[in-house]
Amino acid sequence: MINRRQFMALASAATASLSMPISTASAKSDGAGKFPEDFIWGAASAGHQVEGNNVNSDIWLLENVQPTLFKEPSGDACNSFELWETDLDLCKALGSSSYRFSIEWARIQPEPGFYSQAMLDHYKRVIEGCHKRNMIPMVSFNHFASPKWFAAMGGWTNPQAPQLFADYCRRAAAELADGIGYAVTFNEPNLLRLLKVIGLPPFVWDMQGKMLDAAAKAVNSDYVSCLNAARIEDLDTMNPLLIEGHKLGRKAIKSERSALDVGFTLAMLDEISDGSDGGNKARDEMRDYNYGAWLAVQETDFIGVQNYERVVLTDDGKLPVPDDAQRNHAGRWVEPTSLANCVEYTYRTTNKPIIVTEHGIGTENDQQREWFITESLRHLQQTIQNGVPVKGYIHWTLLDNFEWVSGYTEHFGLHTVDLQTFERKQKPSAKAYSRIIKRNRV
Ligand code: FCB
Repeated sequence: MINRRQFMALASAATASLSMPISTASAKSDGAGKFPEDFIWGAASAGHQVEGNNVNSDIWLLENVQPTLFKEPSGDACNSFELWETDLDLCKALGSSSYRFSIEWARIQPEPGFYSQAMLDHYKRVIEGCHKRNMIPMVSFNHFASPKWFAAMGGWTNPQAPQLFADYCRRAAAELADGIGYAVTFNEPNLLRLLKVIGLPPFVWDMQGKMLDAAAKAVNSDYVSCLNAARIEDLDTMNPLLIEGHKLGRKAIKSERSALDVGFTLAMLDEISDGSDGGNKARDEMRDYNYGAWLAVQETDFIGVQNYERVVLTDDGKLPVPDDAQRNHAGRWVEPTSLANCVEYTYRTTNKPIIVTEHGIGTENDQQREWFITESLRHLQQTIQNGVPVKGYIHWTLLDNFEWVSGYTEHFGLHTVDLQTFERKQKPSAKAYSRIIKRNRV
């Protein structure tokens, strides 16, 4: 087994070779640490995590059954459904040129046969609010949560799912597409595959199955399944249906406005080999399982890269996190070279434009966040300078929010939120990020 120092030498050699100029790339930074003039900066959110009271959604259902994997229910979340203007102001105050958020399918289509004009109008106002503040609205049509009725039909295990999703996309796009800057069909449709390879313990999958059974009982369904909570044996059925859903959803959105860029985002690990044959093989297999089918999709105008962590693969499996490595809240390995590695790999594999649609760190130590943002952006800038066309960087996340199964205990935000008064306060890391944005350089 190699030690940490030997590994670091290998890893930096691997990164250096990845950093060789890519000749055909178009977007170049302006050199000397600068990002390109038109580089998009921003912060991200997701409806279910901040809006509150997403009562017709499948995730709300899962939060409120017994047994549940969720530490606590989302409840009012950050009350962003009411306070969206405050959030846009906070995002703008960073110097952002974009705000990423999701429209909630469960609000727009709470019943299979009913589209809510009032909810579509709400999201139209949010989009207009972005324009008023000179921010490009980057809009996800699905960020994990779906309507309860959709999950009760088996969610993404049901062959009708792609068409049902496309119908919703079409209706929402008819009202909203004109104002959207970039559209995302799915956020991290590969998340469960990635969690599988990270090695979620069997009891968690087991518990997930029991939670889904309880949800099915609660809504009188034979089978409930959700995008980010499903049974391990369904993952291979879901993947092609999600890909089909992306293709049909994108077509539906483009049928309302053909010039709109529509892509998807992927959950990406920075999987690295220690240089051994076994490590290389494990890395390639892991990448193939996590992203292979998605990176082969031609029908996309960009790919959203979302990276949080690193894994190192050896002849004997995964390298334990070295003692002197930086860890996040969950104890997993974080390195500032990881984002650039993921971006580079995605571009080399697909030749598609890249947007970093999420990147951040769950930590109670805001200085660690500041360090992580700054150093990750330093490496990202070098990658752009070497010719990888990265259009923008959207930090996850604007606010401390409802972090899915972890409830309100994991904090990725640039701002704290008081869950009683909903008061937001800027953290020092937000100031540091804002300085980078305003200078357009690290
Ligand atoms: C990503 C999700 C996002 C948030 C971050 C921490 O996987 O897309 O909603 O939970 O992780």
